[in-house]
Amino acid sequence: MPEAYLQTLTHQSDVTYPLFNPHTREKIMDIPECSNQQMEEAIEKSKQAFSKMKALSSAERSMILEQTSKFIKENKEEFARIITLESGKPIRLSRSEVERTIETLYFASLEARKLEGESIRMDAATNGGGRDAYTVFQPIGIVGAITPFNFPLNLVAHKVGPALAVGNAIIVKPAEKTPLSAIKLAEAFKKAGLPEDAYQVITGEGPRLGKVLIDHPDVAKLTFTGSPQVGELIKSQAGLKKVTLELGNNSALYIDRSVRGKLGEIAGKAVAGAFAYNGQVCISTQRIYVHEDVSEEFLTHFKRAAESLSYGDPNDETTDLSGVIDGKSQDRIVNWISEAVRDGSELVTGGNKFENGLQPTILKNVPASSKISCQEVFGPVVLVNTVQDADAALAAMNDSQYGLNAGAFTYDLPQAFKLAHELEVGQVLINDVPTLRFDHMPYGGLKSSGYGYEGIKYAMREMVHMKFISMNYTF
Ligand code: SIN
Repeated sequence: MPEAYLQTLTHQSDVTYPLFNPHTREKIMDIPECSNQQMEEAIEKSKQAFSKMKALSSAERSMILEQTSKFIKENKEEFARIITLESGKPIRLSRSEVERTIETLYFASLEARKLEGESIRMDAATNGGGRDAYTVFQPIGIVGAITPFNFPLNLVAHKVGPALAVGNAIIVKPAEKTPLSAIKLAEAFKKAGLPEDAYQVITGEGPRLGKVLIDHPDVAKLTFTGSPQVGELIKSQAGLKKVTLELGNNSALYIDRSVRGKLGEIAGKAVAGAFAYNGQVCISTQRIYVHEDVSEEFLTHFKRAAESLSYGDPNDETTDLSGVIDGKSQDRIVNWISEAVRDGSELVTGGNKFENGLQPTILKNVPASSKISCQEVFGPVVLVNTVQDADAALAAMNDSQYGLNAGAFTYDLPQAFKLAHELEVGQVLINDVPTLRFDHMPYGGLKSSGYGYEGIKYAMREMVHMKFISMNYTF
């Protein structure tokens, strides 16, 4: 019974909201709609938990994270089924998210032991000599995390892992549509011996509960994954709090003529990049620019691969696509497709709703001003435009308000270096699609894609104070 998952939730409420299965749109269960006062109480409890966390050694914190990772490994199928139930993610992808989470928390356990400052040469400054000096990192306190629906377990782990690794306490406000994975994670932390209340989950309405976290003077750091609009709002209201924002993207991929012999293989990777989990991924492959010498051949492979995707129950092993997160998203995505067609784009395949999801959709010759090109679709839609050469691709790829990931397939080495240097994004993936993230790599966006970095080691740096200490040994 899914209701059993709520047992580990420390914050219950008589007021509830309905949680729906995105694929069937049937109600799963009721979720507590926590009050602002409950969020304030959670912050109060976090203060006690923080004093326990910072008293732990880095080895102790590391072992707790390692044990948590092990617990998830031992219960991986249950975690995967929860992800599928609440997010509609096909089970194979949910399993892969669980595997990633196991690794994310394992990386956190390793990094917990390694966070080291540096020694500073004081005699490099005129009159600075006679002192030994160094930096140390100290935990920042209470972290408030607001997490999205699309990776309900691993994107929680990406915030919680580094926060706990450095000795903070954390409160997670999971997406309203997918709170169960974060709740289940509490069981793993409890079994692993995490001090009580160092990880708390508060369920309910995002903007209201998020505002309590933003406004509360005892919350030292906010970390958010979601839309640029909400990210900007958080940053503008956060005052002097530290903030990390992982926002959207309209990820671009260039395919050069130098990889002509590999177009079938690339089409397979691009189909996964564009349509995995219905494209509801911040780094989903959304814009593909192909050299004119190979564009027709690529499109033939790509269309065939897209049309072979199967739609069905996300619990079935063979399902590739299922319902999108809700009816509002489904309507928005088809409207954007219609707008692109009105703007002069050509529909190569798809374009319609299918049950509670959409057909995998490919458009070509899409104007840069169409929403399908210049905004984040977060749906199973991709454009394929032909370009004259890599320079034209570079200009089109950089013509974006976003800057998270970009990819390019090319065997032309100077061209690869040029793209790597000149693409205006946080992460460049040469000979991969942009829909690629390993959980220890730095991950952060430019422009409207965000502020600050994730990737355990890098996220930890954003959740600490660096303290400088100098000892004057001549005094
Ligand atoms: C995201 O969609 O925000 C993250 C993508 C990933 O972790 O693979």
